[in-house]
Amino acid sequence: MSAAEVRRHDDADVLVGDVASALLERIEAAQARGETPDIGLTGGSIAEELHRELARRAPDSSVDWSRVAFWWGDERFVAADSPDRNAGQARESLLDHVAVDPARVHEVPASDQVAAAEEAAEAYAAALREHGSGTFEVLMLGIGPDGHCASMFPGHPALDVRDAVAVAVHDSPKPPPDRVSLTFEAMNRSRAVWFIASGEGKAEAVARALAPEGTVAETPARGVRGAETVWWLDEAAASAL
Ligand code: 6PG
Repeated sequence: MSAAEVRRHDDADVLVGDVASALLERIEAAQARGETPDIGLTGGSIAEELHRELARRAPDSSVDWSRVAFWWGDERFVAADSPDRNAGQARESLLDHVAVDPARVHEVPASDQVAAAEEAAEAYAAALREHGSGTFEVLMLGIGPDGHCASMFPGHPALDVRDAVAVAVHDSPKPPPDRVSLTFEAMNRSRAVWFIASGEGKAEAVARALAPEGTVAETPARGVRGAETVWWLDEAAASAL
């Protein structure tokens, strides 16, 4: 496992453009090897910008969107049509604008589709077992000002789950309170983990995540490592490094 790499960018626009280029290249390379890459999407504001940029570039790229499998690092356990859904945001900003194969868009079940977040987590884990390659080609993650990533929050019992790939999370400090998250077990099976962070509000959490000393309980992002781990930052998010 290699050390984390930090890529700094002047501002959020340059950051988003660079991540979009790198992601398209990575998907093209996987498809050239004959693979249908598993890509993990994230929620959050910078991800939405990234999705829009990918949709803008789609006509000029040689990515075959029907041969990409889409997953999420986490999902908010709310109704399917809620604006809070990460999947809804990704559909609106990217997936509705490119020719995806709907059978390869693996949403976490919503609160009006299953009875409880536990059931949604089990269904999502079953989908990963049945349809996933077992390894995310790229898993994209945001980081919260408290150091959370996906729905792994500081001090939360979900941090300690080792025997499942997805877990129900209740009492999330970031609304909404009920969520489903990949566990570290699943996230750490990624070929590449890309943390994407923009803005001063992320600077301290980014610095804690990358510091030589610290705990996963305090800064959950420290618990995630891909075979390759890249921190894509704008200058504001990198300002405490
Ligand atoms: C979510 C997330 C969460 C998010 C970070 C960063 O669904 O809430 O996936 O982990 O990525 O909180 O979000 P922002 O980019 O909006 O700050």
